[in-house]
Amino acid sequence: MRWQKDARTKFDHLPLVFCRCGVSGEPSTSSTASGPPSPRGEGKGRPFSSPEAKDLLTLFGDLREEPLEREAFAFPAESTGLLPARRKKDSLGDKIQSSLQAFCERKRERKWFGVIILGIESSCDETAAAVVEDGRKVLSSVIASQVEEHKLYGGVVPEIASRRHSEAIAGVVRQALADSGKPLSQIDAVAVTYAPGLIGALLVGVNFAKGLALSAGLPLIPVHHLRGHIASNYLTSPELEPPFLCLVVSGGHSHIIEVKSYTQLRVLGKTRDDAAGEAFDKAARAMGIPYPGGVEMDRIAEAGNDRAYQLPRPRVDGAPLDFSFSGLKTAVINLLHNAGQKGTEVNLPDLCASYRRAVVDCLTENFLKAAEQTGTQKLVAAGGVSANRLLRRNLQELCAKSGRKLYVPELSLCGDNAAMIASQGYYEYLAGNTAGMELNACAQRSIE
Ligand code: KG4
Ligand code: ZN
Repeated sequence: MRWQKDARTKFDHLPLVFCRCGVSGEPSTSSTASGPPSPRGEGKGRPFSSPEAKDLLTLFGDLREEPLEREAFAFPAESTGLLPARRKKDSLGDKIQSSLQAFCERKRERKWFGVIILGIESSCDETAAAVVEDGRKVLSSVIASQVEEHKLYGGVVPEIASRRHSEAIAGVVRQALADSGKPLSQIDAVAVTYAPGLIGALLVGVNFAKGLALSAGLPLIPVHHLRGHIASNYLTSPELEPPFLCLVVSGGHSHIIEVKSYTQLRVLGKTRDDAAGEAFDKAARAMGIPYPGGVEMDRIAEAGNDRAYQLPRPRVDGAPLDFSFSGLKTAVINLLHNAGQKGTEVNLPDLCASYRRAVVDCLTENFLKAAEQTGTQKLVAAGGVSANRLLRRNLQELCAKSGRKLYVPELSLCGDNAAMIASQGYYEYLAGNTAGMELNACAQRSIE
């Protein structure tokens, strides 16, 4: 696992108030044990249930645990069908009630400032946590990437991804809190990616966020992953506000979205088969470029001639704003097979450049068409593929020519991160879009 920061430091002083949500490896029976367990899980009352739990505790050193207040578990029976009600005078229900009251108070007084949100992201192969103030100011952002491990298999292995998220999430969240200088008591809400993505991976983040929100008495905000990608632009460009048109291009999605407000969105066009990132990764794999091929193909393409190979620009009949990339990918695979059979050499930089241009042409053409149709002057790009050099250059050029304004996320915010989730979480929070303990993860869900 590749860490952006050294996650082995700075944890000791933080109380692990959230370690009872199942990721510490602590058996469920121990949640009723009184008093703090001994460090590193040794001794009475804290047997290890799995090798992962041991690794986790070893990795993070001495996890001093503060016992949770009993009241944290006293919530009204109607909030969950799974646990018995143990109503106490300062129950979680009361805590949620009072934080809602504080929120309404804030809303009434038009005090929108100083809202600090912890974001959690685990939809694919990055475990991330971040603390963001008022949706725009990143106080901390930590990402633990699994990419090196998935590289061995040529793509993300869902089962491995879930396991690595489980191992990393506690440390990543603690690191994010420590880096932000904000203890949990100063966090106003927990935002988490709940859809779309790999279901096992999403469940790790969602369950962790639920445990944390429940134990700390904080509101829980479900965030759609693609809405998060769009919000990465709010972090990069403080002046950006809806309405605008956004091209969201990632490993799993290619959408043209009308962003009417922070929480009202309409899909104008989408891919009928492969996503743009997927099209890059699959073609790159056929060319022998390791996963995630889109990134490397973009680098190699810089040295190539983008007119060397003739590739199609697939269109979708009757849906001019939709994309289709599978035919383009097949064209490259056929070209490689033919060259192999004939024994002719393929110029890799030229093929990468030609393929990249074909994908980018499809994306920019439809995006500009949508801008003309809707009369939108503000264009925004988001998602992993928005890091693509040619896409950024071409969009910049087209916008300059047509007098439109372009916004793109800074490179560090193009890929999956939790700062974008906390940012969007802020706007969902202001719109009152919170969830209870019934929140579940969804592999697929519309952004609308
Ligand atoms: O948004 P993201 O990090 O994860 C998903 O939500 O899917 O996007 C990852 C995708 C991968 O397919 C990766 O190859 C692609 O974004 N990608 C790129 C570039 N950087 C990342 N594709 C083309 N050019 C890039 N520079
Ligand atoms: Zn993403």
